[in-house]
Amino acid sequence: MPRRLTFVLSIAMVATGLLAGCGDSGTKPAPEPSPTPEASPPPPEPPALDRAALRTRGKALFPALPDEATNPANPVTEEKIVLGRLLYYDTRLSKNHDIACNSCHQLDRFGVDGEPTSPGHKGQRGGRNSPTVYNAAFHVAQFWDGRAPDVEAQAKGPVLNPIEMAMPDEASVLVVLNSISGYPPLFAAAFPGEQDPVSYDNMARAIGAFERRLVTPSRFDTFLDGRDDALSDRELAGLETFVSVGCIQCHAGGALGGGSFQKLGRNVPYPTEDKGREEATGDEADRYFFKVPSLRNVAKTGPWFHDGSITVLADAIRLMGKHQLGVDLTRRQISDIAAFLGTLTGEPDASLVAVPELPASGPDTPAPDPS
Ligand code: HEC
Ligand code: HEC
Repeated sequence: MPRRLTFVLSIAMVATGLLAGCGDSGTKPAPEPSPTPEASPPPPEPPALDRAALRTRGKALFPALPDEATNPANPVTEEKIVLGRLLYYDTRLSKNHDIACNSCHQLDRFGVDGEPTSPGHKGQRGGRNSPTVYNAAFHVAQFWDGRAPDVEAQAKGPVLNPIEMAMPDEASVLVVLNSISGYPPLFAAAFPGEQDPVSYDNMARAIGAFERRLVTPSRFDTFLDGRDDALSDRELAGLETFVSVGCIQCHAGGALGGGSFQKLGRNVPYPTEDKGREEATGDEADRYFFKVPSLRNVAKTGPWFHDGSITVLADAIRLMGKHQLGVDLTRRQISDIAAFLGTLTGEPDASLVAVPELPASGPDTPAPDPS
């Protein structure tokens, strides 16, 4: 066991009164406390949680989320955000003017649509669940299989994807953008000094810059910042369990995930048709590897897993214990972890989420095409 975990683990054991049955590995589940028979004396009160010690360890394990995810190649500016936010909501970037980024990644629903897989052009659905866009710019790469290096590269995909927004080619997208007289000046402002600011790449850069501000700090951060009463004992017990059973091996860093690719079914094979990262790399060694999702807002982003097949958060936690750690988590451990995960539900910035008023179509704006 990594030494840095030992300390937290020992706090966890003492604080939750679960010393009995915990082996040296630190990953074995503690047994459910057996029901106390009527006659026996009440069990001793668990010692109070040492919030200060937990905070120190928590801060070391989960560095604070910055205000934005930076990219030196695409600095975030207010002008790009203004433009990117409009583009994010604009259904005219889809063939039938009925789908926008916000259709599948709804900003007022924590960046998801609540569907296992999302309907795109003509109601077609792909095989994977739409992940949230909140905090996604922090990830090591984009998509479940990591096939796009960053949010700028990612944003070029859906517009031309035949089952998503279904535009035929980049040139048709530029026809649309140039036909809406409000857009060219906004591109010029966002990309000053450029000869041809209205370009497909700049569309993606503006959307990417907007996404780089979709950051959602939460109650968990308030606790780490020093507010003792920000988390309940139950939630803190969940944090301890999350750390001590080994969830942090993969769900690490300020976003609690997003930093690595890991095999789904590392300890016990997980049944899925999806080859995961092998689809992106062509390398058989990557079969069933998926990007570890960030757990920020996870209580709100179900259904879960790459195929959206898991509809109850407690089931996701239990399956993680079994398939990723090889342990059967107790019901108590699962509900404590679920309580902790609830503290990661953040507050989206209302000014970014508000539905913008889009610039009006012009006489040359192509009509919707349902074909
Ligand atoms: C029809 C639904 C749909 C539309 C429209 C759509 N997306 Fe997605 N998005 C998805 C799905 C599904 C995935 C995951 C696909 C995969 O991993 O193979 C995804 C993945 C992403 C990711 C990666 C997140 C992560 O954690 O890896 C980002 C960012 C994203 N989309 C942003 C956008 C933007 C920006 C737009 C608009 C230009 C957009 N999406 C339009 C369904 C959609
Ligand atoms: C060995 C790495 C690893 C460990 C350990 C691990 N996870 Fe995961 N976790 C993943 C991967 C990979 C996925 C994506 C699964 C998929 O592709 O369907 C995931 C997905 C999840 C999801 C669903 C997120 C979503 O948006 O769909 C939750 C919730 C979750 N993990 C919680 C936990 C908890 C709680 C623990 C500890 C009990 C844990 N994980 C341990 C790698 C890991």
